[in-house]
Amino acid sequence: MSGRLEIDGPLPGARFGATVRLDRPLGEATPEGLPQALADAGGLLLIPGRTEIGPAPALLVELSRLFGPEVEDYRNLLIGRHMVHETQPEILLVTNTVPGARPPPALPDPPLTADGKFPVQYPHRRGWHTDQSYRRPPPDISLFYAAVPVDRTRGQTLFASGILAYEALPPALKARVDGLQGLHAQPGSGRGRKEALAGTPPRAFAPHERSQPQPVVRTHPVTGERALYLCEYSQMDWFEGPFVGMQPGPHGDGAALLDELMAHYTRPEFVYVHEWTEGDLLIWDNRCLIHTATWYDPEKDRRVMWRTTVGGNPGPLYAGERKSWIPLDQAAV
Ligand SMILES: [Fe+2]
Repeated sequence: MSGRLEIDGPLPGARFGATVRLDRPLGEATPEGLPQALADAGGLLLIPGRTEIGPAPALLVELSRLFGPEVEDYRNLLIGRHMVHETQPEILLVTNTVPGARPPPALPDPPLTADGKFPVQYPHRRGWHTDQSYRRPPPDISLFYAAVPVDRTRGQTLFASGILAYEALPPALKARVDGLQGLHAQPGSGRGRKEALAGTPPRAFAPHERSQPQPVVRTHPVTGERALYLCEYSQMDWFEGPFVGMQPGPHGDGAALLDELMAHYTRPEFVYVHEWTEGDLLIWDNRCLIHTATWYDPEKDRRVMWRTTVGGNPGPLYAGERKSWIPLDQAAV
């Protein structure tokens, strides 16, 4: 049975996104209208109150399948098994509760803006990225479920609309980024801006770990809208990039352009700040927005979030490509 949706947009305090209420719990009805609602809302949906997912994680995987044919099996990626859900390998654990888990991001420095506000804009706020942009083709959609969120004053997730940001670019900047490609690197691969600034030589790459070029302006394969597609410190390649064909490195022309574009992309009027409540489910479209995580207290707070990633419709630019992140000896020919 198809479930009915009550859609209310934009999200509070933002110019994009929508809140969706379902008439029945997941498992009793299939909310088939969600992919269209996601496209209509500029790529971000909040579905509150989905606590039925906690005891039945397969519901999250089933829901993910509505958004595309390829729901990632995290056992196939180069991440520790401890970061993968025990019974549902399509669920990545974003948590501080397992040994070896990634710590939360640092607090911005200074913690507040000059006028006492929560900082959202780059470079004061860092960590802005679109999921797994270091892969070709990159994934389309992410679903993120709050199993155990931290208090609403911290551990927020911030989103910036690449559609709104692109529309508002001054014409001269639009002309500069048209046809330009960014070079995206896997965080932790030693190709980030921090390493480049420190002069740490990058380690050698296996072919499937290589940084990947992506268009700075992507055309959405469903809506036809154009959106900025870009990351910053740790998810761009700061040795050969950040842009293909521009002066590379952290002090070059490419760095200056990236700083200008990211500061524009994350202007407060293009941003939504989500404060989490248990049972919240956020669904976002990586093809047209970026997001970042914020600090929580790793000593006192316990946080368990579940993420799935869906691919299969990156657009004609990627048609027929072999997946870049799978070692050649494991790739299906
Ligand atoms: Fe992410």
